[in-house]
Amino acid sequence: MTLQDVRTVGVVGCGLMGSGIAEVCARAGFQVIVREVNEDLLRKGLDRIRASMAKAVERGKLAAAEMEAAWGRIRGTLRMEDFAACDLVIEAVVEDMPTKKQVFAELDRICPPHAVLASNTSSLSITELGSVTRRPEKVIGFHFFNPVPVMPLLEIVIGLQTAEETVALGRALAERLNKTVVISKDRPGFIVNRLLIPYLLDAIRLLEEGVATMEDIDTAIRLGLNHPMGPFTLMDFVGLDTLLFIADAMFEEFKDPRYAAPPLLRRMVAAGWLGRKSGKGFYTYAA
Ligand code: CAA
Repeated sequence: MTLQDVRTVGVVGCGLMGSGIAEVCARAGFQVIVREVNEDLLRKGLDRIRASMAKAVERGKLAAAEMEAAWGRIRGTLRMEDFAACDLVIEAVVEDMPTKKQVFAELDRICPPHAVLASNTSSLSITELGSVTRRPEKVIGFHFFNPVPVMPLLEIVIGLQTAEETVALGRALAERLNKTVVISKDRPGFIVNRLLIPYLLDAIRLLEEGVATMEDIDTAIRLGLNHPMGPFTLMDFVGLDTLLFIADAMFEEFKDPRYAAPPLLRRMVAAGWLGRKSGKGFYTYAA
């Protein structure tokens, strides 16, 4: 199957990443079916898509008529069975292997045999996800970056059994979405998070050692390295629960202390301080 055969894209999960992926696919002309587990999360996810497209219009990145056309191509659902209509499904649920495996097994049962199944995982094994399907050659990693409509990278992750044809479809999709591709083998964290996660965890260690305040660490990185966000702002932006999931998954595989979550991170997540999305993380955010 090539990208020309893809009419309808399914997105599993309409959280921060799923909503962004659904938005860029609809803006690129695909019919999109996005699924959440309950009405409340679905409504919040669809609201996020609409708000993001409205911002794109405001910034002159999208014509108002195009926004309405893209919005008309998105359909929300609570039923996995609706993915039977999809040629490509991108999974963006919580970063937890048992949950993702269950989603992939269900997608394999529901989707037509030609459909490609992709995961937006940021650290977990694509080969392992493929192993619960009868089509491991059609299973691939499409790792998008937050905010999806703005970040120009697509990290494509190739499992041991992923076919060349599936990779070619990924490259063609990236071109349609106006993203630049990098290719990574199936190793925890791939390219970006292999480097990003130890850096973010080290920022927490620096804070815990009392070397500097978090404000000064953020300022140092923004002004000393020209990063758009310092590490604490970025962690709040990514979500501390997501960061912890990724760190734990990487530590589980490598058993390398560089990926071990500092105690403060685990306690903040236990307290529900998840970053911007919960109103409090390292910083506090107005509602
Ligand atoms: N649709 C399209 N374009 C949009 C948009 C939208 N919804 N919202 C904003 N934009 C555009 C703006 O028009 C602007 O474009 P120009 O520069 O051409 O004018 C650009 O995006 C920047 O937008 P803003 O001016 O509103 O915001 P900003 O300058 O404060 O930047 C930011 C915001 C892009 C988030 C920036 O702070 C940034 O790049 N931060 C770092 C983000 C990052 O590192 N993300 C990766 C996280 S890691 C991850 O996702 C993976 C993982 O596995 C953990």
